[in-house]
Amino acid sequence: MTRSEQGWCTSVTRRTALRGLAGFLAGSPLLRSQLDPFRDHSRVPAMSELKTAFDFEPVAYAKLPRDIYDFMMGSSDGEATARRNRQAFDWVSLIPRGMADVSAIDCSTEILGHKLKYPILVAPTSGQGPLHPDGELGMHAGATAASNTPMIISSGASFPIDKITGAAKGPSWFQLYRMDTVEGTVDRIERAQDAGCAAITWTVDGPVGPYRERALHDRHLGGYGEIDENNPQGSRGRRNPRAAAQAPAPYGVRAQVLDWKFLSAWRSSVKVPLLIKGVVTAADARQCVENGVSGIVVSNHGARRVGHGCSTLEVLPEIADEVRGRIALLVDSGFRRGSDVLKALALGANAVCLGRVTRWGLAAYGPAGAQRVLEIIQAELTLAMATTGRPNLRSVDRTLVRTNFPWA
Ligand SMILES: Cc1cc2nc3c(=O)[nH]c(=O)nc-3n(C[C@H](O)[C@H](O)[C@H](O)COP(=O)(O)O)c2cc1C
Repeated sequence: MTRSEQGWCTSVTRRTALRGLAGFLAGSPLLRSQLDPFRDHSRVPAMSELKTAFDFEPVAYAKLPRDIYDFMMGSSDGEATARRNRQAFDWVSLIPRGMADVSAIDCSTEILGHKLKYPILVAPTSGQGPLHPDGELGMHAGATAASNTPMIISSGASFPIDKITGAAKGPSWFQLYRMDTVEGTVDRIERAQDAGCAAITWTVDGPVGPYRERALHDRHLGGYGEIDENNPQGSRGRRNPRAAAQAPAPYGVRAQVLDWKFLSAWRSSVKVPLLIKGVVTAADARQCVENGVSGIVVSNHGARRVGHGCSTLEVLPEIADEVRGRIALLVDSGFRRGSDVLKALALGANAVCLGRVTRWGLAAYGPAGAQRVLEIIQAELTLAMATTGRPNLRSVDRTLVRTNFPWA
């Protein structure tokens, strides 16, 4: 055997070398990053490259820690209501009117004394601090920059209420969760009113904490699970997912009482319009009218409460028929596009609140991102009105839509 032939016997064969390389790659973080297409962004796109509100979601995903993203996107149970919230928009068709002068489109309206350029508000969503260092201050600034869009400030905000209202000049409302005591509830209301909030929105759809399967699975190793949305002290804190997983067990559920009796105990402290958020039936809407509240928000909390609920768009017509314009009728849950907003207006809403989309904007590009998302949806609404031959909101009525909800 020559010397070089001896070398072949003792040196590494090609097969062994390839096997070694494969083993190295399998354990390498380089390969792991390939498994997740969004994590592999080589660059963050410029905001001008994003054309729809949907485009902001992957950027938010890329920028946020996984548990913060999951908290934002999560819905109850297996998220069937969330899917239905979106699907419902496909069950409503827009029927354009021809021969209409749409040379000037006016989307303006008036809601509870606020003159709005667009019938759009920022929905209350808790804990915006983890999305961006400016948190709710940034959201308020972005909303104000987007044609003075009112912002509803969550009970679970990351910043004190007066700091948020002081961050921008646009209108702000306050979203109220029940506190343990009447005194505590009155204290929150008074602080919000002192800070300049022009309406109080009491959320009644969460007597018990949420049950979200996404949060129950400890999928983000080393991360944290559910964040307590109802935590009135703010949602900076994170809980262990295993602790959250025990929360919805059949024993030991601590339900809050959210009823008219409790409301009557603190109602006199409300000096501004009072709205009830979380209405999804005509019967509840009737009670709201009878009890003289100023408005309701038809909402399933962005699918974060009831696991197999209806979309809000489906229940909106029967609620609008019950309300008949006597109180303000707002709606949210699943809205992502200007045409979504137009469909709700046609089915009887006076205005639409936007939740997750505004969070995607804030998380992706800070206040400018929140502003941009709102401006995109405002522009889409204007375009949808022009396309369907409706120059102003007075001309938006049920003849604009044909509904094909599953039971119809
Ligand atoms: C992350 C997150 C936090 C929320 N926090 C609150 C809250 O503190 N109070 C409240 O009334 N609703 C809260 N909501 C519900 C929103 O006000 C709104 O009903 C919902 O987001 C609308 O659905 P959308 O996200 O599909 O637009 C929250 C929603 C999300 C996504």
